[in-house]
Amino acid sequence: MCGIMGYIGFREAQTILTNGLRKLEYRGYDSAGIAVSNGDKITVCKAKGRIDVLEQQVSEVSLAGSAGIGHTRWATHGRPSDENSHPHVDETGKFSIVHNGIIENYLDIKQELIDKGVTFTSETDTEVIVHLLADLYDGDIVSTVRKVVGKIRGAFALGVMCEHEPDKLIAVRYASPLIIGVGQGENFIGSDIPAILEHTRDVYILDDGDLAILTKESVTVVDIHTNEPQARELVRVEWNKEQAEKEGFQHYMLKEIYEQPRALKSTMAGHLDEAAGKVTFPGLRLTAEELKEIDKIFIVACGTAYYAGLVGRYAIERLTQIPVDVDVASEFRYQRPLVTAKTLTIVVSQSGETADTLAALREAKRLGSKVLAITNVVGSTIAREADDVIATIAGPEIAVASTKAYTAQLMAFYLFGLYLAQEKQTIDPQEHATLIAALKNVPEQVEKVLENADDLRTFAEGIKDEKSVFFIGRGIDFAVSLEGSLKLKEISYIHSEAYAAGELKHGTLALIEEGTQVIALSTQAELHEKMISNITEVKARGAKVLGITPDSHIELHRTVDELCFIPTTAPLFTPILSVVPLQLIAYYTSLALGNDVDRPRNLAKSVTVE
Ligand code: F6R
Repeated sequence: MCGIMGYIGFREAQTILTNGLRKLEYRGYDSAGIAVSNGDKITVCKAKGRIDVLEQQVSEVSLAGSAGIGHTRWATHGRPSDENSHPHVDETGKFSIVHNGIIENYLDIKQELIDKGVTFTSETDTEVIVHLLADLYDGDIVSTVRKVVGKIRGAFALGVMCEHEPDKLIAVRYASPLIIGVGQGENFIGSDIPAILEHTRDVYILDDGDLAILTKESVTVVDIHTNEPQARELVRVEWNKEQAEKEGFQHYMLKEIYEQPRALKSTMAGHLDEAAGKVTFPGLRLTAEELKEIDKIFIVACGTAYYAGLVGRYAIERLTQIPVDVDVASEFRYQRPLVTAKTLTIVVSQSGETADTLAALREAKRLGSKVLAITNVVGSTIAREADDVIATIAGPEIAVASTKAYTAQLMAFYLFGLYLAQEKQTIDPQEHATLIAALKNVPEQVEKVLENADDLRTFAEGIKDEKSVFFIGRGIDFAVSLEGSLKLKEISYIHSEAYAAGELKHGTLALIEEGTQVIALSTQAELHEKMISNITEVKARGAKVLGITPDSHIELHRTVDELCFIPTTAPLFTPILSVVPLQLIAYYTSLALGNDVDRPRNLAKSVTVE
């Protein structure tokens, strides 16, 4: 998973490329590079490390020219190094490419090329493409790229430049995302919209199998196999620039935590018909008849989106009595899932590009299931391949650790669960109306939780030197504990585990010793007593406990060392509120440790490899 940028126009390409790559750094930051053409010659500058390192190098060489391609890399084939950085060039230096994705048959092609005498300079799968271009060049870069694509297998988005045809850039999309930005006398290639937003709001979202030919003045899209022209709709992007920037917060993650009330309101907007006391899904293609037929639901996702799915299961089962299975996407395909035409598979993905989730979506469809995607990126591959989409309107999420996308996914599940219950008449209308009213209040209640940020910061500073932190909860609180634990470990690097509170004594209790930090969620009135017993068990072994509980449950203060109250809401909706303190604890712990909060080590935002 990497970021691609391309520019052809009348301005200096190098600044446009490096600025664009900064916006794409969340896709990978192992190395970065650009190739710029001055009309006669292509010059490449690339380096291991972040864009700052590249910029330093660019300032030391002459890279004048008004066309170029750029890349920011997340290493898959070959370690992070200068040699493995993109752009790659052929032996003559006439061809240059950037690539996002994986070439599955690269070893065979590499051997063929080595047999022909080609010398490889990197360990990447990508390098075969540029040598194939040089090998197959027939005087027309478009037809040559088409020949090359006919030989490679896998997932790829490509940006291609050829010294013989300096007035063109070629972009190819094949199972990896790519967009084209359209300007006045200049055009852009980007892995996604923030990369080009400061220059234009008019974009083409390429389809798989599209090859785009960019000149200064034109963009032509053809089918990579047939060469037939393809009509793509020019989309006007409504995101403002600020939405993709930090808005004065120290980190994107903090900004995104604070954006949650807005993200929740936007995700809810248009779905609550207050006058009729109903939930509506005007854009849904699944008919009322099809919805009534559903007798089983699979929820499939990865990481945080999977944890949102665990909450989704509670919501849908409680509201509709339809049995729900939740599976990690990388496992789903290999479980021989029992899917029938009456199964609905819900895939959840912030980016809409996660390779495992996409593969699960395809498998579910192959087995005859209808697929509904909950995603934050409407032009994404997952959104486009699903039968139906519920868009979370969280805006671009830049920090690697997901926050606002998670709570927006929960909101999508609640709305869909309420809708399904209403259509299948599995809920008492009075209870339905009460839940809708409670849900409407949740965004304001999140604002109240955010007011506790200073206390949570103090708590976080106190745990920064812990070796381990344990999260416990029962039922829906256990699902949220899993997310809280993931958040803490991914950005603070502190070992952390989440446990179903009743399960702790079956093994994990052995790890609790004097001073061990435990964070206990107790939001469900029917489980408060049981949680108090479990908290007492860890305290008896010397644990320090922070309790998170609704403000209607003040008696917890007798059992725990510290308390964080969240506003009281319907029991089903507490996860949106109880996760916020956990996000803030993770954020402030990471900050106190001096970590790179937005870009934790070894991780990248969009995981487009399986
Ligand atoms: C953790 C996190 C990841 C993602 C996962 C799926 O904070 O962000 O666990 O949730 O990689 O990504 P999407 O939702 O884009 O499919």
